[in-house]
Amino acid sequence: MKGVILAGGLGTRLRPLTLVTNKHLLPIYDRPMIYYPIQCLLNAGIDEILLVTGGEHAGDFLKLLGNGKSLGIKELHYTYQEGEGGIADALSLAEDFADGGKIVVILGDNIIERNIARAAEDFSTQATGAKILLKEVADPERFGVARVEGERVVEIVEKPENPASRLAVTGIYMYDNTVFQIVRGVNPSDRGELEITDVNNAYIKRSDMTYETMAGWWTDAGTFQSLYRANQMVAEGGANHMDAAAPKAGKAASIA
Ligand code: DAU
Repeated sequence: MKGVILAGGLGTRLRPLTLVTNKHLLPIYDRPMIYYPIQCLLNAGIDEILLVTGGEHAGDFLKLLGNGKSLGIKELHYTYQEGEGGIADALSLAEDFADGGKIVVILGDNIIERNIARAAEDFSTQATGAKILLKEVADPERFGVARVEGERVVEIVEKPENPASRLAVTGIYMYDNTVFQIVRGVNPSDRGELEITDVNNAYIKRSDMTYETMAGWWTDAGTFQSLYRANQMVAEGGANHMDAAAPKAGKAASIA
């Protein structure tokens, strides 16, 4: 399977920091935020990656990552999202890259403690549909929230005022190739974005969505509070990919 990292958007919630750089290039402890989703995919054996970015500082990704080889990426592709049309809009740019196959998508500001290797392996044998990873959180109203009945997710509500559960939909999504067809049928939400939650609900409606609950900690880093929390969690040594990713003297760019 191929991997897609969505690192577009304007990062308005982190202004003024994001006036001078892209949100995903901000530091999380000792490395740029974007290294973590890259490592997450590499740890799952996914080394053909498309990076979707946008905004005024997109060129800086090339300076940092180059062709990705020094990070252990076999093929690193880039594309550019005009404006801030939403996560599903950013995903739509991956259609040619996916080339008819399944993809694992991760949001550029999501950081996890453990790894998704087993979930990705399970999904690779899933005949059709999608898989999402859920995590119990204290503040579900900040996220897409899943209502689960037994083995099934029956609905996801984006940033609900009265969440049906504490199960946040993390920013790691696995899709078959019909995702691009689904995205084409999604309309902009009240905040003017193509919502990934609408895409996921389309899979749920046709009973083609599986889920797993994620072990270990998970956080996003898109607000000052969550950015601070992400720094703390990584600095306290929780991330299992930290050992592998620790910078080595004389090997500045290596995260493998
Ligand atoms: O982190 C998980 C949450 O991410 C999910 O629980 C929500 O269902 C999902 O909508 C999303 O919520 P956020 O409001 O936190 O998403 P945000 O706008 O912060 O975007 C998250 C990442 O998605 C961002 O770091 C880059 C990418 N993105 C976002 C937008 C709006 C794009 O690539 N392009 C975009 O236009």
